[in-house]
Amino acid sequence: MEKILITGASGQLGVVLTKALQKKYGIQNVIASDISISDNYDGVFEILDATNFDAVNYCISKNKITQVYHLVAILSAKGESNPLNTWNINMNTLFNVFESSRLNGVKKVFYPSSIAVFGEDIEYINTPQFPNLTPLTVYGMSKAAGENWANYYYKKYGLDIRSVRYPGVIGYQSLPGGGTTDYAVSIYHNAVKNERFDCFLEPSTTLPMIFMEDAIRATLELMAAPKENIKVRTSYNLSGMSFSPMQIYESIKKINPDFKITYTPDFRQEIANSWPKSIDDSQAREDWGWQPKYNLDTMSAEMMKNLKKYYNLVSV
Ligand SMILES: NC(=O)c1ccc[n+]([C@@H]2O[C@H](COP(=O)([O-])OP(=O)(O)OC[C@H]3O[C@@H](n4cnc5c(N)ncnc54)[C@H](O)[C@@H]3O)[C@@H](O)[C@H]2O)c1
Repeated sequence: MEKILITGASGQLGVVLTKALQKKYGIQNVIASDISISDNYDGVFEILDATNFDAVNYCISKNKITQVYHLVAILSAKGESNPLNTWNINMNTLFNVFESSRLNGVKKVFYPSSIAVFGEDIEYINTPQFPNLTPLTVYGMSKAAGENWANYYYKKYGLDIRSVRYPGVIGYQSLPGGGTTDYAVSIYHNAVKNERFDCFLEPSTTLPMIFMEDAIRATLELMAAPKENIKVRTSYNLSGMSFSPMQIYESIKKINPDFKITYTPDFRQEIANSWPKSIDDSQAREDWGWQPKYNLDTMSAEMMKNLKKYYNLVSV
């Protein structure tokens, strides 16, 4: 029987992944943990500060955890306000989870990386799986280092750590936690409320993105794949779709023709400029059969429909 621990479970991805794992493994077999509680899911929850090795180790050993989904991180934009603190949190929580997983014989660990690992001197279109990683943010540096530690723990100790480089994740279920792609969630909230949206990126800034359903399915499919299929032990490129603020605006206007947008680029523009415009994820497709289902328009339809329900703008 599997026993699952999720760290950072109250965040944008965590609340949705927790529900998906509860559905797959049974509500009693999934422990959601975070430093702050969320009312977005039911089930077993523990306050767990992942910077505390003893607390992480106690939780993993007491509950005989077999799989850990380590989601804790300070994200790209937020992380720049205090770089050393971001490095410490992102790296220390990773060491605690990897080391405790090794010591307690955890079978599988999921570690999300990010398109933030890419930076200067990459091919910006169809960025390949193995380019030089020279990230511009401390968040990206921590994810690039984390990928190498994942590879190290696999090669040295056989710890089965699996990872994808998520693009910007867009969902209606939760709010984003301080990334450079957050605008692509906020814009839908404004659109359903018919409020003008002021975008912090320039209209033509194309970035790789993925709909939440696809991101969660990718995670579950990667973790379910036979071990021998997992050839990349740093982190897999993962692609959903690519679009700019202007294109998401046009997509929303097909549903809400009165919607208005303005542009006031800030410090996040420079971060976005250093990231890929599209991703080559052929290795993930080959090794474990990855296929995204959503494109910009089908995602917009789902976002608008579900956020209207959330804001009670249509009858459920
Ligand atoms: N959301 C995206 O678009 C995206 C894209 C690429 C990668 N990722 C990665 O996916 C993972 C989840 O991202 P997210 O968007 O849900 O992040 P988020 O910021 O929404 O959530 C992170 C959670 O970690 C918790 N946390 C912070 N410090 C903690 C600590 N010391 N101990 C325990 N919990 C702590 C926070 O309370 C928060 O609930 C992260 O590792 C992130 O780097 C996300």
